[in-house]
Order: sequence, then structure tokens, then C-alpha cells
Amino acid sequence: MSQIQAVKTSEVLLLGPGPSNSFSGVLQAMSEPALSHLDSDFLKIMDEVKEHLQYLFRTSSPHTYIVSGPGSLGMETCFVNLIEHGDKIITCQNGFFGDRMHENARRYGAEIVQVKADWGKPIAIEDVERAFVLHPDAKLISVVSAETSTGVKNDIESIAKIAKQYGALIIVDAVTALGAIPVEVDKWGLDAVYSCSQKGIGCVAGMSPVTFSELAFEKVNNRNTPVPSWFQDITVYDKYWELGAKRPYHHTAPSQQYYGILAALRHIKSVGIENLWRQHEEISSYFAENMEKRGWRFFVDKSHRLPQLNTMLLPEGIEDAQGRARLRNDFKIEVGAGLGAMAGKLWRIGIMGANVNKAAIDKFLLAIDNL
Ligand SMILES: Cc1ncc(COP(=O)(O)O)c(C=O)c1O
Repeated sequence: MSQIQAVKTSEVLLLGPGPSNSFSGVLQAMSEPALSHLDSDFLKIMDEVKEHLQYLFRTSSPHTYIVSGPGSLGMETCFVNLIEHGDKIITCQNGFFGDRMHENARRYGAEIVQVKADWGKPIAIEDVERAFVLHPDAKLISVVSAETSTGVKNDIESIAKIAKQYGALIIVDAVTALGAIPVEVDKWGLDAVYSCSQKGIGCVAGMSPVTFSELAFEKVNNRNTPVPSWFQDITVYDKYWELGAKRPYHHTAPSQQYYGILAALRHIKSVGIENLWRQHEEISSYFAENMEKRGWRFFVDKSHRLPQLNTMLLPEGIEDAQGRARLRNDFKIEVGAGLGAMAGKLWRIGIMGANVNKAAIDKFLLAIDNL
């Protein structure tokens, strides 16, 4: 019998908007033999994953789990469960992913009120307040915590506070936020939050951690119409993740991916989430200091800049596509291109996962010194 040929790739330092390189031990964990999705050992793995996700999201909500799919599936899961046709919702939009949230709301038939800010600027809290004053019947608000298209941090705590005053639920995109900057689900009163596995968590792509508050879960239980997606219906999904319960079959969970995320989450727990946030701040300052010394400028003001996703305006003499191709081919480093109106004008440099260290930054600095 002929041997299956191995797929070979070379190691690239992933300093783009995601994926980032995974923590050491993750790939090794993923090469363990498969377990079936209802195997008692696999269920123990799921239980431990849940516990670590609660730690990471800073929540005690039992409705916390992984949706087997990318961050976009986590996004869809929040919208498909929480919107019924004709519900009024406020969508905050200051970049590509805020627009994608708006598109989800539109497709599920919401009546939408948009709160917009220019790319590179955060959502203004006064605009959110005004939207609720004009539309006190809004049932939901959606917002991105870390807008990966621009490198802007939105003030989730303040937006959530206003939503609570008006009795509205809040959906938060924490795809680029989780593990890198605070996402305080219980303290800030967030109702539906989704993330991904390939950025701050330091694992491979394809899993979306999600968490829902009791209020959100109650809303789904009291819908007038069934959740239009069976696979994503959290009242069904919840049972597969319910601790101690006799688990029904839901879907064939990708066991090796779960081993990978468990390894990454154990690593995060051992470092401590607050230490991880601090490391992101420190390494980002080191990066900023060295880039500014070289004449590079940030697109975003310091007050609402993300440490994990740096949008750097291209200086004279560096051409976008050519520069990125040289980084990739000659130095084995990936950075992200600008999106939308910022295409060709800036690079998006992610410092997440296994790359939150000076060695990764030094390698990048050496490369740009030799571009
Ligand atoms: C803020 C944000 N939301 C959603 C997504 C979608 O995640 P995925 O590509 O894992 O589907 C991304 C991807 O980078 C993102 O940055």
C-alpha cells in the first residue's frame, strides 16, 4: 500500500490580524488519537474546556461553550438566536466587522438603527445614548470590542451600561479581544459574546467560544418562533454541554481541535489572564517605541488603540503589496493589508497568541530594517 504523503508547510511568523502562531504544545495535543463526541473521556475534556472558557470570559454562566466553526459562526449563533423578525436593534459600526454584524441583523429580519463612527475612531458613547433616547424600544445592541479592520478599541463597558438602562441585551464581538484585553462578561453585564480560537487563545482556527447570559437564554426560550437554525439553536446546543447531564448527540465534535484548545486554555490559566493582558500592553509598548523610532506612525490615537492589533501607516518608500511579499518570502513573516479605504495605506500588525514576546518583535524589526 502506498504511503500517504505528508503535507509540508514552512513556519511563518504570523503577525497579521489572525491566525497567530499557536502556543507550544497545541499542535502536539492535536495529534492525539480521536475520541468520539460522546466518549466519557471526551466529555471530561469538554467540561474542562467549559471551565477554562468561563475563566477567560470572566463569567459563571453555564451557557458557555465552543461552537464548532470559525468566529463568524459564533457571530451568526448570537444573531440567529437573539433576533426575531421585526425586532428593533441598534448596530454599532466603525469598521469591517461592525458592518458584518449589521449584515447578520439585516438577514435575520431586524429593524435596524445604525450608530456609526469613521474608521479609525471609536463608537461615541453620546451617539449610543442618543440612539436609545430616540429608540427606547430597541431590544438589542451589537458592537465589536476590538475592531480588527482598524485597530480601534470600543468602550464596551459604557455601551453595556446604557443598554442595561434601556432594558436591551448586548451582543459583543470579542474575536480579536479575548485573551488580549479585558472582556468582563459578568461585571459589564454582557449578554452574548463570541470569539475565535486562532488569535488571543493561541490555538488553531475553527472553534468559536461563545457565552450567553441567563437573560439572553431566557429570551431564546421565550421566542415566538423557533430559532431558524437547528445547528445553532443554543437551547439544543446547551444540552450537549450541560455539566453532569446525560448528553444527547448534537454533532460530531472535532475532537482533535478540542484537545488543541484545551492545551491552549490550560496554558492561559497557568499564566493568569491578568498577566496575559499585561504582557500584551508591555509588548505592544515595546513595539510602538521601536516603530516610532523608525519613523512609522499609528493610524489610531493612543487613547483607543488596541495593543494586540496595530495599524501602522506605511512610510515613504515602502510599497504595500511588494513590502508584504518581501516580508513573507524573504523573512517568513506575515502582516495584514489595510481593508476598505485603508487598503494600500497601512499594515495591520497583530501581536497575539504565541507572538506576545520581544523575540517576535525583534525579528519583525530586523526584517523591516532590511526591506
Ligand atoms: C472582529 C472580528 N470578528 C469576526 C471575525 C471572523 O472570524 P473568523 O475569520 O474566525 O470567522 C474576525 C476575523 O478576523 C474578526 O477580526
